[in-house]
Amino acid sequence: KANPKPLVSEGEDKSPASPSYSNNTTKLSTDNWTFNRTLSNLIRKNILRFFDPERDISILKGTLKPGDVIHYIFDRQSTTNISENLYQLLPTVSPMKNQHHRRCGIIGNSGILLNSSCGPEIDSYDFVIRCNLAPVEEYAGDVGRRTNLVTMNPSVVQRAFQDLASEEWRERFLQRLRGLSGSVLWIPAFMAKGGEERVEWAIRLILLHTVDVHTAFPSLRLLHAVRGYWLTNNVQIKRPTTGLLMYTMATRFCEEIHLYGFWPFPQDSQGKSVKYHYYDTLTYEYTSHASPHTMPLEFRTLSSLHRQGALRLHTGSCD
Ligand code: CTP
Repeated sequence: KANPKPLVSEGEDKSPASPSYSNNTTKLSTDNWTFNRTLSNLIRKNILRFFDPERDISILKGTLKPGDVIHYIFDRQSTTNISENLYQLLPTVSPMKNQHHRRCGIIGNSGILLNSSCGPEIDSYDFVIRCNLAPVEEYAGDVGRRTNLVTMNPSVVQRAFQDLASEEWRERFLQRLRGLSGSVLWIPAFMAKGGEERVEWAIRLILLHTVDVHTAFPSLRLLHAVRGYWLTNNVQIKRPTTGLLMYTMATRFCEEIHLYGFWPFPQDSQGKSVKYHYYDTLTYEYTSHASPHTMPLEFRTLSSLHRQGALRLHTGSCD
């Protein structure tokens, strides 16, 4: 069992004994949001009963050796081996060891961020988490630049960097990584079969070139633990999205959590169309067929926590 270590003293404000995770509306009140520290501390404590994000954020070097067999989390009958290169990039201590931050921003990839002018606000957080190596430079006014941790699903190597097949794409990938200086690059390498080679190519480039990133590879139990936490609280998610994983883990390191770019709907609250991602041409149709996620349910859950002050969802403009 993990040892919960509250970041701040409890009992400062009134709140229900336990959070409520359900509601039927996605409407958010933004005017009078106040942070509910007691509830936020309670959520952290409950999550720590399932797993400790400081530990499960990455497999550590001492726990495996090259050649060890790993069963994929979602394809249990399929296996892969820990390569020499991947082993080299395993951290020796948790990249989040002893990290505590007062205000964190978690940036999802919805097109709701376009024309939001939220960049400067996002850059003002103490710790900023982004998903799937989403580009920042070209969109800095809306999404900011600051990145302390960024995820990279193996599919990103294919989708955003053309499988690193040419010198040009390898250079673009390296360019993106160079922009990360000092951040954690979180690679869920063992979720599902199929991304093995992509991870290996990316790792080889990182090792060959001087890139200042701290690589991390989530523990094999992380996904089930996160899912277990939400299921126990009656949130019937299929497979948590990267965004929900990041929120769940961030509760361990952050006091106040602000989310941007979470809007899994093709229209905004005024009926204007919203891109699925702020930076590419992926559509809602594609994702609803192919995706194992339950994003609208996740969104309703996060809205409920927003209403109770446990986190803040930003879905409008920051002007
Ligand atoms: N997100 C959202 N609304 C969208 C797009 C994304 O709320 N229209 C949030 C989701 O929580 C998502 C995160 O932003 O996990 C990052 O987006 P993306 O890169 O699309 O992540 P995933 O869909 O989780 O990636 P994958 O399907 O590869 O797991």
